[in-house]
Amino acid sequence: METKILVTGGAGYIGSHVVKALGEAGHSVLTYDNLSTGNRWAVLHGELVEGDLADRDTLRRVMREFQPAAVMHFAASIVVPESVREPLKYYRNNTANALNLLDVMAEQGIGRFIFSSTAAVYGIPTSIPVDEQAPLSPINPYGSAKAMVEQILRDLAFARDDFRYVALRYFNVAGADGQSRIGQAYREATHLITRALKTAKGESDKLQVFGTDYPTADGTCIRDYIHVDDLASAHLLALDYLLRGGESDVFNCGYGHGYSVREVVDVARRVTGVDFAVEETERRAGDPPALVADSTKLKGALGWQPRHDDLEYIVRTAWEWERQRQ
Ligand code: UFG
Repeated sequence: METKILVTGGAGYIGSHVVKALGEAGHSVLTYDNLSTGNRWAVLHGELVEGDLADRDTLRRVMREFQPAAVMHFAASIVVPESVREPLKYYRNNTANALNLLDVMAEQGIGRFIFSSTAAVYGIPTSIPVDEQAPLSPINPYGSAKAMVEQILRDLAFARDDFRYVALRYFNVAGADGQSRIGQAYREATHLITRALKTAKGESDKLQVFGTDYPTADGTCIRDYIHVDDLASAHLLALDYLLRGGESDVFNCGYGHGYSVREVVDVARRVTGVDFAVEETERRAGDPPALVADSTKLKGALGWQPRHDDLEYIVRTAWEWERQRQ
């Protein structure tokens, strides 16, 4: 059945893959995006309204006219080290703007919400893999700003019977559309896989590895890399769950195993065929040593079945995307 979904940040990396999946599933989509990091061409389905979440009047008008059954909220700043340097930007864009959105939703009587949360809410987990019961203890403003929104959502769902949400805690999202139509397109790439591929492409002379003295097997940080299309399918399952009357809940999104920075470098060299240079440097501020998801709950409660649990596929789709970009 066609359902109307409002997607904030639908012109961005993850949002655009979810818009694509919503379109393929036959939903009617409206993207609300200020295009600060997103791109008009990335919206493969439905209408795009250029607007900012700080602009309540535009948001209210769009919400009133479109009358979505649910809102999916991707629009946010996402760079951990930047959040350490510019915390207010993160509390403004990620916390205060989410409040604006929830306020306008309440005014317009829209009560289903899917929130892009993050593994960064766990900080440095005491055991790996980490499940949803683990305490929230973020170690950077990016994680804190997202954890605050989760708290707001818990309080709101408790206070109001007509409001239900799913928060999805993303681990390290990577890869691109299998047909290379969309992918990561940030002006300043900071993520490991994208940086490695840009180095292979010759856009920089070396890849820096931030820290080789972590308490991990090879001394570099471990992350759980999840393909963006598998993450998109988790959103569609969360949407169905909420529309069927599911209770508010939180789910980890990752595959349940991690790769070190050095392992990612090896795969990137193999996939690209380029033996690009690597420089080992100091640790980067705000990086936990290891983050790996226990995603049993997502698989059990929502029936999530990942299709691309394969680092080679992740890197290959990202490489195909990266190679054909200007
Ligand atoms: N890294 C390098 N060199 C680089 C870039 C990254 O060594 O050029 C290292 C980082 O230090 C880290 C790992 O590679 O150890 C992954 O770093 P990313 O920047 O790719 O990703 P993060 O783990 O910092 O953050 C990502 C998302 C967040 C999310 C987090 C959850 O950006 O939104 O994953 O795990 F919260």
